[in-house]
Amino acid sequence: MTSFAEPMSYWEVARENFFKKSGSTGNFGKLFNFFSPGRVNLIGEHTDYNGGYVFPCALNLGTYGTARKRGDNVCRFASANFDLEVQARLDKISYSPSQGWANYLLGVTDRFLKSGHKLGGFEIFIHGDLPNSAGLSSSASVELLMAVALNAMFECGMASQDMAKLSQRAENEFVGVNCGIMDQFAVAMGRKNHAIMLNCAALDYEYVPLELGGSYLIITNTNKPRQLAGSVYNTRRSECESALKSLQAKLSIKALGELSAEVFEEYSGLIADETCRKRAKHIVYEDERVKTAVGLLRAGDLAGFGRLMNESHVSLRDLYEVTGYELDTLAAAAWEQDGVAGSRMTGAGFGGCTVSIVRENAAENFIGRVGEIYQRATGLKADFYVVETGGGAGVF
Ligand code: GLA
Repeated sequence: MTSFAEPMSYWEVARENFFKKSGSTGNFGKLFNFFSPGRVNLIGEHTDYNGGYVFPCALNLGTYGTARKRGDNVCRFASANFDLEVQARLDKISYSPSQGWANYLLGVTDRFLKSGHKLGGFEIFIHGDLPNSAGLSSSASVELLMAVALNAMFECGMASQDMAKLSQRAENEFVGVNCGIMDQFAVAMGRKNHAIMLNCAALDYEYVPLELGGSYLIITNTNKPRQLAGSVYNTRRSECESALKSLQAKLSIKALGELSAEVFEEYSGLIADETCRKRAKHIVYEDERVKTAVGLLRAGDLAGFGRLMNESHVSLRDLYEVTGYELDTLAAAAWEQDGVAGSRMTGAGFGGCTVSIVRENAAENFIGRVGEIYQRATGLKADFYVVETGGGAGVF
């Protein structure tokens, strides 16, 4: 009997070529495989850096990596998704724009070294099925992939939560993006069929079963390039800081996330600047929404959960002003369709994706109609992903 081997896919050929080019220091370690998910946040947006609650889950889409140790102090990085291979020496790691996507991995490597872990040379090849720059945490996904790879290869004994914190530091200090902890935490700590209710001030968390009984989680990508995302994100952070400072004149609080809506309404007059007041109002009410929404989900009230998702989008549109025409068009089109419990932007905003909860038997109509309305309104074609939740980053 003749058996035919499956032809190798594009990325498998690229991976084989990458490891063939290793150079001959001899002494390579065995190959390890890793997977690190993306994440979608169901509710609780821009609350993480305000010490509030978020409610993300890890996805079954993400980044795969194959890695091995080398006998020298060189690290090599390649990806099937980008035409850029990067090589560096462990004793000479620094950020450079020319290193592109590899900066995220170099940043994590650098933080491992700075935390006192003993590393040697290594090489890693990655490929992924997560859309980049779409608000699904492709950056946190590659950071945690690098973290779990280093942790396994060099037996560093780090816990997942500490790898999340280290990866956030890498993104803040090495890459220079001032993100909160939500993405890295969700990617590191995800659990299949669960979302994570995370208090970002204390890093207390609880896994909440995500029982959608008969409904799908559908992610829709605006496919709008997110050029200004970084700078507007930082502006929002400072607007929140300024609102907090005004409130601290009378209230002894460390973060906006500590305020109930009631206390906020009583003292909001202390925030003289109207824009900052609006930003703070979003944070306080969004934080309350997370707590209410999680309660509703636990009680099996998916419709109630969905209504709060919609309210969250409206608040991000009108008070926090991070949605924009494309996300608003997608959300409004989703709200009109049958079988939609809720729909909202997810992640930082300014483009990126929406997340919707849609009854299984309404999904086909949803994808057809929302896609059509969106294309007519924007000239852009949206991509739809019917996703499942997944586990956190680890050996694959
Ligand atoms: C980005 C950041 C997160 C969080 C969200 C908004 O994804 O990386 O830390 O602030 O935006 O909720």
